[in-house]
Amino acid sequence: MKRVFSGIQPTGNLSIGNYLGAMKQFVEMQDDYECFYCVVDLHALTVMPTARSLHEGTLDLAALYYAVGIDPHKANLFLQSHVSEHSELSWLLQCISYFGELSRMTQFKDKKQLIESSKKGSQSITAGLFSYPVLMAADILLYDAEVVPVGQDQKQHVELARNIANRANQLIKDGVFVVPEPLIPKIGAKIMSLRDPSRKMSKSDPVDASRINMLDTPEAIMTKFKKAKTDSENLIKYDPVNKRGVSNLLEIQSLCTNKPISVLEAEYENSGYGKLKTQTAEAVIEFLKPIQERYYELRNSPEMLEYLKLGADNARKIARKTLTRYQNALGLVSRD
Ligand code: TRP
Repeated sequence: MKRVFSGIQPTGNLSIGNYLGAMKQFVEMQDDYECFYCVVDLHALTVMPTARSLHEGTLDLAALYYAVGIDPHKANLFLQSHVSEHSELSWLLQCISYFGELSRMTQFKDKKQLIESSKKGSQSITAGLFSYPVLMAADILLYDAEVVPVGQDQKQHVELARNIANRANQLIKDGVFVVPEPLIPKIGAKIMSLRDPSRKMSKSDPVDASRINMLDTPEAIMTKFKKAKTDSENLIKYDPVNKRGVSNLLEIQSLCTNKPISVLEAEYENSGYGKLKTQTAEAVIEFLKPIQERYYELRNSPEMLEYLKLGADNARKIARKTLTRYQNALGLVSRD
């Protein structure tokens, strides 16, 4: 089985857009690959979260991943800070990463610009924000991962990890790192905002009514769908160019019920938008119910901490070996 590594940021409020677009694929991959999924709490530190939000956000995300179907006996889900090799390798890799290449990372440039134009100014651009992609390279290279599923926005960072791996293989020791490949998932479902269906449903949209959060109550879900933006034609047809709102509702309902869109179109032939909205809300409520139940069961349970420990133990075994291999290649004197 090929080995997969991916990191997920513990930033709260995951929506059904995140689930249908990405999380679901992670769950599907656990049968065909040896998976390492890492909640990257150390990466989250680059935005200086409060202790409370980092702590809660980390556990929320882990619980949600188990709740949607990550099986602790199939995939290794763990917290980055539980495997100290990530931080250690990151330093070693910083010493073969160039200032120039890190300065060219698009995500860094965008964030830098955003901070500089805000009232905080350049004083608050941390070294961590700059070296973030090197920690990401360490995450990947520690596991000899061949495949790295990421969104398009992270492709450049995986390219950097490839460059660093190749550089180490040339400068330090041939074959010391496996060179990873990015895997950009076939466009998962693209779920649009309920308030502005020309935009993607986003966890960072300030308008909460624009998205369905994975943990929304049935009442909240119903209210949000009833207010969902459609059009004035009163015709239920899948046409994502001209009827974005209606098409989005059909798409969501189809994904939650596994009914093809064409079947739904036929069912709604003589109905109005009210019925479409209510029934889509009902489908989503039904779909999220077992996930939410499992989430609340796990979120504060000793069981979940055991799962995370198991994941970290498995991860550490591999990470330790790779780190030692690289330390030896560099000429660092071994303690034992
Ligand atoms: N930077 C990634 C993101 O923002 C998260 C991440 C951290 C990651 N380490 C990784 C993704 C390693 C893939 C592999 O989404």
